[in-house]
Amino acid sequence: MPTIDQRQAYEEEGFFIVGDLVDVDTLFQLREAARRVKEKVRIGQVDLFTHWADKDAREPWAIRGLIAPEFDEPSFARHLLSQNIMEYVHFFIGYELTLGAILLFTNPKHSDWGFGWHRDLGSQERDGTEAQELKILNKPQTGLRWHLALVDDACLQIVPGSHRRYRTEHERLCLLETRDEDIPGQHTIQLSAGEAVFWNGNSIHRGVYRRDSERLTISASWSKYIEGLSPSKVDKRLEWRLNSDVRAHLPIELQRYYDRWHELQLPNS
Ligand SMILES: [Fe+2]
Repeated sequence: MPTIDQRQAYEEEGFFIVGDLVDVDTLFQLREAARRVKEKVRIGQVDLFTHWADKDAREPWAIRGLIAPEFDEPSFARHLLSQNIMEYVHFFIGYELTLGAILLFTNPKHSDWGFGWHRDLGSQERDGTEAQELKILNKPQTGLRWHLALVDDACLQIVPGSHRRYRTEHERLCLLETRDEDIPGQHTIQLSAGEAVFWNGNSIHRGVYRRDSERLTISASWSKYIEGLSPSKVDKRLEWRLNSDVRAHLPIELQRYYDRWHELQLPNS
């Protein structure tokens, strides 16, 4: 059950960790499913949208399409709809929802990986004035995101509290130029298998992936449904969701949220 302390941590620090989001059986099912997904991608059987660390070596760092029929892994949709998740989602963003995202973060087996500090700002300005940056950071919350570690994970580093303030000069250098220098106050999110972190992607953060240490973490989110938005071109990373067989493959409870997402998408071509 979400708590006031968790909300306070989320607002002030930008994250909080939960130990009991999934039970042991669910964790096992999700981990096995994630391993099958990764294998299908590595052998070239499925590629709906894959973020490659090394495409020639078939080493992905993130895999999308987990709820697609091509993977045929129902445990991911069940996770999105699980009661524990819904309690947090309702607590933080209410009851009017639309489909967010679910993907798998993983890593190359035998090399370090990471692309440095950033905020998850999409196409928004990344080098704005203080007023511009605060305007972006202060937008009302429209989603809730979590990472669920399927094996122990110490890859995510966050600068606590950075989601609600202008970057320092040193942070600007790290965000836009050097990318991988340490930032004073940086905090490593240590997750044991089965633990989850809910966190704000506006925080300054990076993923630091160490070779020979497996990462297998679900990154997922729900979004707030806002009436009256105009359709726009579909995000390339989510284009596979427009395939004609996706909707029917989803659990019925998920289809209405899929429909709300779908009605705002315009094809790219
Ligand atoms: Fe990010």
